[in-house]
Amino acid sequence: MSKSAAVALTLVLGIFLNQCVVTGKRYTRCGLTNLLNDLGFERSYIGHWVCLIESESGKNTSKVSTRANNRLGLGLFQILSRDWCTFRKRGGMCNVHCEDMLDEYLIDDANCAKKIMQELGFKAWNGWKRGCKNRNLPMPLC
Ligand SMILES: *[C@@H]1O[C@H](CO)[C@@H](O)[C@H](O)[C@H]1NC(C)=O
Repeated sequence: MSKSAAVALTLVLGIFLNQCVVTGKRYTRCGLTNLLNDLGFERSYIGHWVCLIESESGKNTSKVSTRANNRLGLGLFQILSRDWCTFRKRGGMCNVHCEDMLDEYLIDDANCAKKIMQELGFKAWNGWKRGCKNRNLPMPLC
């Protein structure tokens, strides 16, 4: 790709992300469905991701909860500190700052969630086990 094409693509993507991905703090179900689509989640699993996020964070991008063994659940996907991220420097198995799991820039959160899914499956999330497991959850119609 030429340099100017790369710059143009970055600009377009930036505008797109500003309008579609970085919205409010608490998503609606449809907003979340569209977000997951834009972030490249596999369509056939989006219903399960929506259920997981509703169960884990109530669709709140800045949700923090205390978890076992001095861990914190962070953000939309309630990514666990110490395991997947570290504070003040990049680290954990996602090699990211935990602070970045609480802002409204969600590409890094999504990449980390996809990695957790790859390594452990949906069963990594208790909220999914509690509320979503064994359910037929098609992608919400928006
Ligand atoms: C989102 O979570 C944060 C931190 O837990 C909390 O302070 C805030 O009130 C929540 N927002 C909504 C809209 O529930």
